[in-house]
Amino acid sequence: MQLTLTRPDDWHLHLRDGPLLARVAPHSARSWGRAMVMPNLVPPITRLDMALAYRRRILAAVPEDSGFEPLMTLYLTETTDPDELRAAADHPQVQGVKLYPAGATTHSDAGVRDLARVEPALAVLEETGLPLLIHGEVTDPAVDVFDREAVFIERHLEPLLQRHPRLRVVLEHVTTEEGVRFVSQGPANLAATITPHHLRLNRNAMFQGGLRPHHYCLPVLKRERHRLALLEAATSGNPRFFAGTDSAPHPRRAKEAACGCAGIYSAHAAVEIYAEIFEQAGALDRLEGFLSLFGPAFYGLPRNRDRIRLVQQPWTVPERIDLGDDELVPLAAGETLRWQLQPVAD
Ligand code: DOR
Ligand code: ZN
Repeated sequence: MQLTLTRPDDWHLHLRDGPLLARVAPHSARSWGRAMVMPNLVPPITRLDMALAYRRRILAAVPEDSGFEPLMTLYLTETTDPDELRAAADHPQVQGVKLYPAGATTHSDAGVRDLARVEPALAVLEETGLPLLIHGEVTDPAVDVFDREAVFIERHLEPLLQRHPRLRVVLEHVTTEEGVRFVSQGPANLAATITPHHLRLNRNAMFQGGLRPHHYCLPVLKRERHRLALLEAATSGNPRFFAGTDSAPHPRRAKEAACGCAGIYSAHAAVEIYAEIFEQAGALDRLEGFLSLFGPAFYGLPRNRDRIRLVQQPWTVPERIDLGDDELVPLAAGETLRWQLQPVAD
């Protein structure tokens, strides 16, 4: 059995920089036409010139004939100049502005502590139509880590959308039933991305026979009923849910540590894993919408014109991906997947 689909786009991706960028970017370029590239480098990508320079480094890291197109994002800080956002909104290579609550995740220290301080910036986004991509978790240490998304929605996202009813917002990597409900019932200018790991795993995966650092990410994996809500949303055909892998490589030594980094690497097989999940849900006919059509529709971009082919042919994911001085442990390491990507001859 085989499937031919419009080439998909990854609406949430961490590509890093330097040697790690060179190692991981070809994995994404193999499957995806475009990717929304997260700006949480050190230092963060806060200005248009930085985003454009980073984009050139990404293009230098992928095969020239891949046709891969990085879509850049700016990192919103409390000192972001609204004029910088106006310039970014006019630039076709920038397609989003990322809001990290300060301290919510990897390299988010420069993020936003007080949303009131970015009101002028949000007003510019609302006016220009440049989307705001949100890491939707509160950082309040009094809030249980498994509740941080639901509390963010109630305390911050709902009021923010009331203050800015035309603001285009993506609730990135939605992980809860509450998040799914909020987006489903929300306005057309609100959407969400869903990762392969939150569709494949529940929080038991972090503790299976011992502590499993390679299954630790943020937002953290949730209980089964949340995974089922995500699966239902992804396979529902609702165009406001689309693919965003949040593939986030950290070298093995940084994951297997007393204070291990958050992030799951999936770029090596994300399309194949999404296909398997949709097949198991009996929803292969909805896969193309989720992977390839709903994202461009939300962002107002054309669909990719080329196609990919998925063939049902089991293969085993490598246990490790070599990084020279370290290695990556990828999602589904050592497991057998049912679908394989093959070149389309045309
Ligand atoms: O698990 C995560 N890793 N979540 C994020 O939000 C950031 C990412 C990273 O950059 O490593
Ligand atoms: Zn991310």
